[in-house]
Amino acid sequence: MRGFDSIERIGVVGAGTMGGGIAQVCAQQGYDVVVRDIEQEYLDRGFSNIEDSLDRLVNSERLTREAADAARERLTGTTDLADLVDCDLVVEAALEDMAVKQDVFADLDDVVDEDVVLATNTSTLSITTIASATDRPEGVVGLHFMNPVPVMKGVEVVVGERTAAEAVSLAHEFAEALGKETWESDDKPGFVSNRILMPWINEGVRAFDEGVATKEDIDRGMRLGTNVPMGPLELADHIGLDICLDATQTLHEELGDRYKPAYLLARKVDAGDLGKKTGRGFYDYE
Ligand code: 3HC
Repeated sequence: MRGFDSIERIGVVGAGTMGGGIAQVCAQQGYDVVVRDIEQEYLDRGFSNIEDSLDRLVNSERLTREAADAARERLTGTTDLADLVDCDLVVEAALEDMAVKQDVFADLDDVVDEDVVLATNTSTLSITTIASATDRPEGVVGLHFMNPVPVMKGVEVVVGERTAAEAVSLAHEFAEALGKETWESDDKPGFVSNRILMPWINEGVRAFDEGVATKEDIDRGMRLGTNVPMGPLELADHIGLDICLDATQTLHEELGDRYKPAYLLARKVDAGDLGKKTGRGFYDYE
């Protein structure tokens, strides 16, 4: 299996919020990065988000303009998965849909060298099931970044049934090389992070829907009362209500009624009110 020391070129599948953020932090640390998405339009949007994020880091003096420009130079986009051929590590951040992920992993298995580790940024889906689409299940590992990737310190390493110890070590070493700190989870639904976070968000939605308090007081209560940076409703808006509903539905299917999505969460998603990204979620955004 290709070790951490030989990693120079990273492939990232998906130029959305997570894929773009992952590509950005890899480029900031000096890796060459090839980002693949299915449409040029998605790549353009992803690269524009990366440029905005690099500008924010420069404006807040966390990064020099030279370092930001150098990071941008290390990033290339493609719509052809075959362009990931020379990558030493691939991180997949495509749609949270098992069929899509399995297709991507089966294709990646053909494209990249057989000793290359394939990581997935899945938030709740089974690493073991994703890995079963490849001929290298020992080289498939979960590398679950947190949103916004350039700012959040933590990365969750998820170990599938067949994941080899070398792939797990590489995942920790690589995340640390990106300036992150890691924790490890077994391949159980939602891992550590979303198994605990999603019911917290879901209960916040229920409390709001059932009139326990105003949305502002629910968020304020959790911020002041437990010292979290965001309460459950504003955090749901930040993550995206569609992502929260998908994750909660997976947990519900796997773990039973305690994870049943709140009625209001599904109704808001049906209405197209997905949070900040559509301008309206539990709050309105200009
Ligand atoms: N790129 C670059 N910089 C960014 C950024 C981005 N995308 N987002 C925020 N920043 C920077 C800002 O420029 C600012 O920099 P400064 O302090 O040097 O001026 C700093 O981060 C703080 O941002 P803001 O002042 O805009 O706002 P806050 O102080 O409220 O911080 C936050 C924003 C970092 C998002 C903070 O509210 C927070 O930590 N919230 C909780 C986020 C969280 O829990 N994420 C995990 C979600 S779960 C997940 O991702 C898993 C998935 O599977 C669902």
